[in-house]
Amino acid sequence: MTATVPELLRDDAEGISRAAEVLAQGGLVGLPTETVYGLAADARNARAVARIFAAKGRPVFNPLIVHVTSLAAAEALVELGPMARQLAQAFWPGPMTLVLPSRGGVADLVQGGLPSLAVRVPAHGVARAVLAAFGGPVAAPSANPSGRISPTLARHVVEGLGDLVDAVLDGGACGVGLESTILAVGPGGVRLLREGGITREAVEALVGPVTVDLTPGRVEAPGQMERHYAPRTQLVLGGVAGLGEVVIGFGGGGVCDLSLSESGDLVEAAARLFATLHAADALAVARGAVRIRVADVPETGLGRAINDRLRRAAKG
Ligand code: TXA
Ligand code: MG
Repeated sequence: MTATVPELLRDDAEGISRAAEVLAQGGLVGLPTETVYGLAADARNARAVARIFAAKGRPVFNPLIVHVTSLAAAEALVELGPMARQLAQAFWPGPMTLVLPSRGGVADLVQGGLPSLAVRVPAHGVARAVLAAFGGPVAAPSANPSGRISPTLARHVVEGLGDLVDAVLDGGACGVGLESTILAVGPGGVRLLREGGITREAVEALVGPVTVDLTPGRVEAPGQMERHYAPRTQLVLGGVAGLGEVVIGFGGGGVCDLSLSESGDLVEAAARLFATLHAADALAVARGAVRIRVADVPETGLGRAINDRLRRAAKG
């Protein structure tokens, strides 16, 4: 067995400048952000962007999120109306992606043939340092093989993609642990395309009621496939634990193997979600367990995004 591993970088000045160099050379970098690890490439380099799709085994028409350092840098790529600007000022840098009319300037594959472009200004210090050192827009989907659980540790990226990624920068565990909230902003108002790190409540407190458009399989948000975030072992939600199961708990009460949050804290549960699913999958394989069962999580605030990911995982 020949296991070629990607170049492993530390989150120090040397690692950051090396990551920027790999991006400039058209390479792929596993990059920590506050949400999940991204599989980063120069958004202007069509070959580099194409390698993202190849590495993930991702359907080519699924467009990518472009990461930039500031609202000003985002303005060079997309048209921001008053409402988009208000959202950007409130939630950037942070776990929110805005889908807006594109001004061009990125490789065609990034937009997947759509007239719109998804942009985000990440809050993670290391991601920001790499973006600043690189000096251009960076396309980055989550750094997992298509259809599998998003990575929240550098190790997940190495295990999932191996040498399909050129370098992985280890920035420790991702703080939010869920992907960004995706909002499409247009003349008709704000449409929520994906629940994520910024709650629906927080968005609505700022701009009023949003249209919820989480329909799976639509061209508009093709990443919202029914089967997504799936562990290898069958996953079920709620109900009573049986023999031969790995149990993931939430809050007090009940015996479990792993817990999203012993105290029932949704922020902690979000941060731990994907790492817990990865760990439960490994435990299930080690024990020969038939399924993974996850305790009920309340459908409020971040719980909605957590349940969205769990329901998709359960369809696997
Ligand atoms: O937190 C995140 O958003 C992470 C980190 C790395 O930034 N990225 C991430 O990317 O989750 P990805 O590719 O796994 O999910 C991006 C989603 C997909 O569902 C894609 O279809 C949607 O964004 N998307 C991208 N561009 C779009 C567009 N122009 N219109 C509608 N949906 C779009
Ligand atoms: Mg993803």
